[in-house]
Amino acid sequence: MSAIQTVGLSRSFDDLVAVDGIDLSVERGELFSLLGPNGAGKTTTIKMLCCLLRPTGGTATIMGHDIREDPLAVKRVIAVSPQETAIAEHLDAWENLSLMAGLHGFDKEEVKRRSGELLDLMALTGRAKERAKKYSGGMKRRLSIAMALVSNPQVLFLDEPTIGLDPQSRRGMWEHLGALKGDTTIILTTHYLEEADALADRIAIIDEGKVVSLGTPSELKDSISGAPVTVVEAKNLTEESIAALSRKYPTLRRTESGVEIEAEEVALYDIEDSLRPMGITIDSIFRKQVTLDDVFIHLTGKQLRE
Ligand SMILES: Nc1ncnc2c1ncn2[C@@H]1O[C@H](COP(=O)(O)OP(=O)(O)O)[C@@H](O)[C@H]1O
Ligand SMILES: [Mg+2]
Repeated sequence: MSAIQTVGLSRSFDDLVAVDGIDLSVERGELFSLLGPNGAGKTTTIKMLCCLLRPTGGTATIMGHDIREDPLAVKRVIAVSPQETAIAEHLDAWENLSLMAGLHGFDKEEVKRRSGELLDLMALTGRAKERAKKYSGGMKRRLSIAMALVSNPQVLFLDEPTIGLDPQSRRGMWEHLGALKGDTTIILTTHYLEEADALADRIAIIDEGKVVSLGTPSELKDSISGAPVTVVEAKNLTEESIAALSRKYPTLRRTESGVEIEAEEVALYDIEDSLRPMGITIDSIFRKQVTLDDVFIHLTGKQLRE
């Protein structure tokens, strides 16, 4: 049995189709990423899977429980850390966690043990007695995730866990999230390609409410690696030199810093030999690695940017 199975899962808001017939199957213990730009339908999908929003079409099961027919059973096995962190800012981390553990019916000793474990796990122990409003964005986010983990969920939903964090805190967060991998099935939404690439076992790329591609990070990259791309960076390229190169390499295209050539065989020395007589100095020349960025552009014709 899969941890999550969705069948034609859809949600419209009046005329707007926010989620448009999503079919997914997520294995137990998998860290599965929904990757897509703002407005793609990620949060709407998460909300339906968490029984916070009713589908207008299709359905899903979570650990075998149908979200439409048995939302109470679903809610017992899941937890969610929403896009907007839900913490009490006037309480400290310890109090926030204890409150949550108390709500889940743990007794006093368990509340203490569980809160302590989660503070350690999310590296908050040192500042557990400070009011949450003094925390950095990253710490608030980690506290929010710790609170979602209190109930020991079988399925954890993390909606944009690094949104609004600076790049350094975002990378720090990846380590914490990586440490959660294991028994818990995790659905992580993000619009950062590197994040999905770094963390996910599999990725569903979604755009305009539809799954446009699905696979492991390397499968997605392999799916578009037609001919390799050679990047030539040179500041003083002239029209004449570009024309000369594009006679040899018709797939050449201009970039901000030079040109890119998509071709099986590009002899680096040959490019240097063509450009040098025209007085052009090459800053760098290299073969480009395929990134998930390329996959996204390839699939949707759009760039995925912050
Ligand atoms: N409650 C709502 N009422 C109307 N439109 C909504 C509502 N929630 C989301 N939408 C719209 O649905 C689309 C998908 O939104 P959302 O799921 O939040 O995308 P994402 O999380 O991928 O950024 C967007 O066009 C958004 O404006
Ligand atoms: Mg969202």
